[in-house]
Amino acid sequence: MVTVNGRFPGPRIVAREGDRVVVKVVSHVPNNISIHWHGIRQLQSGWADGPSYITQCPIQTNQTFVYNFTITGQRGTLFWHAHISWLRASVYGSLIVFPKHNVSYPFAKPHKEVTIMLGEWFNADSEAVIRQALQTGGGPNVSDAYTFNGFPGPLYNCSANNTYKLKVMPGKTYLLRLINAALNDELFFSIANHTFTVVEVDATYVKPFETSLLVITPGQTTNILLKTKPIAPNASFYMLARPYFTGQGTFDNTTGAGILEYETSSNSTTFTPTLPPINATNVVANFTRKLRSLASSQFPVNVPQTADKKFFFTVGLGNSPCPKNQTCQGPNGTKFSASVNNISMALPSSALLQSYFFKKSNGVYTSDFPSFPLHPFNYTGTPPNNTLVINGTKLVVLPFNASVEVVMQGTSILGAESHPLHIHGFNFYVVGEGFGNFDPNNDPKNFNLVDPVERNTVGVPSGGWVAIRFYADNPGVWFMHCHFDVHLSWGLRMAWIVLDGTLPSQKLPPPPSDLPKC
Ligand code: C2O
Repeated sequence: MVTVNGRFPGPRIVAREGDRVVVKVVSHVPNNISIHWHGIRQLQSGWADGPSYITQCPIQTNQTFVYNFTITGQRGTLFWHAHISWLRASVYGSLIVFPKHNVSYPFAKPHKEVTIMLGEWFNADSEAVIRQALQTGGGPNVSDAYTFNGFPGPLYNCSANNTYKLKVMPGKTYLLRLINAALNDELFFSIANHTFTVVEVDATYVKPFETSLLVITPGQTTNILLKTKPIAPNASFYMLARPYFTGQGTFDNTTGAGILEYETSSNSTTFTPTLPPINATNVVANFTRKLRSLASSQFPVNVPQTADKKFFFTVGLGNSPCPKNQTCQGPNGTKFSASVNNISMALPSSALLQSYFFKKSNGVYTSDFPSFPLHPFNYTGTPPNNTLVINGTKLVVLPFNASVEVVMQGTSILGAESHPLHIHGFNFYVVGEGFGNFDPNNDPKNFNLVDPVERNTVGVPSGGWVAIRFYADNPGVWFMHCHFDVHLSWGLRMAWIVLDGTLPSQKLPPPPSDLPKC
């Protein structure tokens, strides 16, 4: 497997809000690679964002690229990961941003802080898994385990002795920074016999609420406060992570586990938490609807009250024709695909940001991505007869600082499932969500424009929709995609161009001289 500095998960990066981060990446592997700083806004530093063929060409064997960016106006739990093929299965690590000196959390200082990275383990080479799936047109092999900080845990035969253990003292508060770095699965997470308080998601503070269960999509982070029991019990407690899934394909339905252990106890029994059924969409909706921005004077919301640009995007699966002289393993002998507004994005062989910056878009991309589906249908009803997608590299151009609304409608083509949509370069506010088809006349009346949660990755509900808003205040080319790597690989991806503003501080600077070439 490919690792960073020989470690799995990779090294943790710790910074403070306002810090400049400089990371020199040298490739000692045959694989092409690039690294993305997931959730970092990259204001005026789009060249450091990292997705291959979007903001840069990949770093090739023996090449070096220095990522150089400043963390502006953000603090919290984020992570970094490889952004090419399926390399992020083993190439990821945490990126923790502390508040500025002398700035405290909006909650009492915890006794200790702990990072738990949930991941997904493949016995096979993860890049070979997706390569084979794309060649045959079928669904890829599923993973073999879920991991806690790299360890699958005692519920797998292979791993009983190598288990992530969180040792705690009684009567203390721990801040747990949870990161879902899994490739293809949303996860339920719970700790036996304990409740906890959610205080932050995607590096933005939320109104605290208590729960015994949370759900976290790939690309999301969640900070919780865990208050330990006043007297150490004679027991230990499983922390479990198991997928939430409503689709039709095969998936890894195993359970990853870590152990919560009190330092002074003798641990005679281990308690197990109850997790909801694997397809418990109502449990997911109940959880996500509790998430509200803090919306305090220190952490105000900046949600557009109106939108200059409105988009309606269908997100979901589809299929594309099987090439001649080939047999394909997708539905009815086709190839699996996924799309936004029925367009499955083809990655260029150069990088979009360079093409845009040097005004050489010819043959690389066009700027005609549709704002609405070309052929509307009943998105959550019976799928249309023709489910074939169009391949293309089409972008949307946004004027600097436009207020943008995007409604993302899940479709039931090849089965309804949730899609964790992630946008690079921005945080957005989740102003509404619902089941069924979005109703443009009535649903906007119920949008939350007061304290909507702010995040960088949102689960489009299975059989439903979400509405998000943000200001396009960051010039550059920004990727948006499903954070399930299988859907990303199948084309559920698109990109925005945000034009320069007029002030020097609103312009994208020229690229660094070591930017890799394709
Ligand atoms: Cu976490 Cu495009 O990435």
